This record gives sequence, structure tokens and C-alpha cells, in this order.
Amino acid sequence: MATALVIGGSGQIGRAVVPALLDDGWDVRVLARHDADVGGARLVRGDREDRDALDEALAGGVDVLVDVVAYDDRQATALTERADRIGSAVVISTAGVYVDDAGDGFESDEFGSFPVPLTEDQPTVGPGRDSYATGKVALEQAWAASPVPTTVLRPGAIHGPGCVQPREWTFVKRVLDGRDVRVLAYDGLSRFHTTSTAVLGELVRLSARQPGDRVLNAADPQALTVAEIAAAVDAVMGVTSRLVTVPGGPVDGVGLTPWSVPRPLVLDMRRAQDELGYVAPGGYADTVGACVEWLVEAAAARDWREAFPGFVRMEAMGDFFAYGAEDAFLARTS
Ligand SMILES: NC(=O)c1ccc[n+]([C@@H]2O[C@H](COP(=O)([O-])OP(=O)(O)OC[C@H]3O[C@@H](n4cnc5c(N)ncnc54)[C@H](OP(=O)(O)O)[C@@H]3O)[C@@H](O)[C@H]2O)c1
Repeated sequence: MATALVIGGSGQIGRAVVPALLDDGWDVRVLARHDADVGGARLVRGDREDRDALDEALAGGVDVLVDVVAYDDRQATALTERADRIGSAVVISTAGVYVDDAGDGFESDEFGSFPVPLTEDQPTVGPGRDSYATGKVALEQAWAASPVPTTVLRPGAIHGPGCVQPREWTFVKRVLDGRDVRVLAYDGLSRFHTTSTAVLGELVRLSARQPGDRVLNAADPQALTVAEIAAAVDAVMGVTSRLVTVPGGPVDGVGLTPWSVPRPLVLDMRRAQDELGYVAPGGYADTVGACVEWLVEAAAARDWREAFPGFVRMEAMGDFFAYGAEDAFLARTS
């Protein structure tokens, strides 16, 4: 039986990728630091920064290595130095690497002005170790320079059970709080392409079967507007809400969501279709239910700020639950 190693396969992406590989007949190992339920896979406990742990995880060689949690070239090099034990690789990068012709992207003062849809040939930031995006580019380039055939996947805003940055909490919490209005900046038309973990599971499964050197966008079949995302979450939770849109960006949190960007990020998925025969496992409205269900359960078990530390970190963008300011805005404008 062919062997797969998923580094970091105990998290949100692993929840989709590991079963996808198991169901496809792979013998799967997962490298992670803590005990975790990895289904029918074998857990190798260890830190990827520990060379002995890597050697243990790669013992006897693996046909495919899936790296979920790598952030710069150093983590690639630790593996490419062991290329004799790796048949092929699939590496999770990010759509956050892209920049526009002026060099603006995700980490610049101005959000990039990208073509719609944006292909994998779009320029990226340069490689480095000083930021998330530059590190991911360094990671991609280190793998590309290696003898290991490597598929790089560039996801958008990931959603799924076990979600680390659960952007959907913005709307799920509003439903739980009984708020029946959605106030959205940029006329509710922001599009920041989403990626279900089911999409990643399918792309990893196909890439593992068809090794090659390639970079692929990895996103849901359509990039919904924020208003459509809000409606999809409402539909899953069996409610409807009134939509109030605000022209321009959020002010004092009014209209802010984690997908609120001034210009669209829409990823072109044609290359995955052409190269791998990829067919999406469903659109956002079909797949977001799994994430919503998990969020509701996780928030019922403990305080949401403890349950979703990744969401709390996103609050650097602003207050996603500025209900007071929102009510004052609605009172002024109704
Ligand atoms: N969230 C987004 O919207 C988004 C968008 C684009 C790309 N991405 C990419 O998605 C990836 C994150 O994957 P994920 O969402 O599945 O993360 P996750 O839920 O945090 O899972 C990562 C798993 O990796 C394990 N891990 C972390 N550090 C490790 C280490 N040093 N050695 C061994 N195992 C380690 C963790 O388990 P232990 O703690 O037990 O080790 C954890 O279960 C990143 O590459 C990120 O750049 C995310």
C-alpha cells in the first residue's frame, strides 16, 4: 500500500485531507506534537523542528508528503534534504502571496487590485522570512528547486470544522445573539474567495495520485460576496435577516467582516481542473454547514474567546461585534 505522511495533519485541514487519502487507499501517517484523533491514520508524535521526529515520520520512505504547517524555506529544506525518502510532495501555501502590478497585495497599505479571476501566473511578493507572505513564497521556491515533484496549493479564506480562523463566527454569533440585521461595508459586495477544507481534501487527493511540479489555486467554485456569505450562513441556521449596506469601508466597526476587502480576490480554478481533472466537492452554500455546526457546538461548550483564539487574533482588523455603533448607525439612517 502506498504511504502518505501529513505533517500537521491533526488540525482543520487534516480533518479533510487525512480521510480523503485514507478513502483513496493510502496508508497514512500524521506528524503532530500532541495526541489527537487521526481516524485510521497512524499518529507519529513529534515536532517538525526536531530532525529525529522527521526521520521517524519518514522511516522507510513515503510515497507522498503533505505539508500543512510550513511557513518558510527552512521548513522545506529540512525535508528536501531527505528527498531520497519522499516520492512527491503537496505543500499548503496561501493566496496571500499574490501582488498586483504595483506590488500591492495582502500585506501592503493598499489592498491589491487584482484581475478577476486571478490565475497562478499573477506575480507574488518576493521570498523572505520577515512576513507570512514572503515566508510562503520562500517555502514554495525551496520546494520548486528540489528534485521532489511538488504541488503547491494556494487557498483563500479557509472554512471547515475545527476552523482556526473561523471568519463565519461573525455571522453565526449574530444569529445566536438574535440579531436580524446584517450591516455590510462596501455595499456588501466584497469578494474574498473562500476555500472549504473539503476542496483541499480533494485537491490533495488528486495531487497525491498525480505527482508533478505545479502551483494551483485552491478555492470554492464561486467567490461569493459578503452579502451572499451572510445569507448562506443564515440559511444553514434557518433564519433570514435584513441586509443594510454601507458604501465604502467600515467605520468604527460598522459594516466590518473578515472578508471586507475594497477590491475582489477571486481565484481562477481552471488550472486544477485542467491538470488534475478536479471537480469541486460543492460550493460554499453546500459545504459551510459543517463549519457552522462545529462553531455552534464549540461555542456552546465554552466562552467563544477561549474556543476561537484565531478569531480573537483577527480582531486586530477591528471590532466584528460593534453592536452599539451598529445600532446607532441604524437609528441614524432608518
Ligand atoms: N486559515 C486560513 O484561512 C488559511 C488560508 C490560507 C492558508 N492557510 C494555511 O493553512 C495552514 C494551517 O493549517 P490548519 O488550518 O489545518 O492548521 P491547524 O488547524 O492549526 O492544524 C495544524 C496542526 O499542525 C500541528 N502542528 C503545528 N505545529 C507543528 C509542529 N511544529 N510539528 C508538528 N505538528 C505541528 C498541530 O498539532 P499539534 O499542536 O499537536 O502539533 C495542528 O493540529 C497553514 O499552512 C496556513 O498558512 C490558512
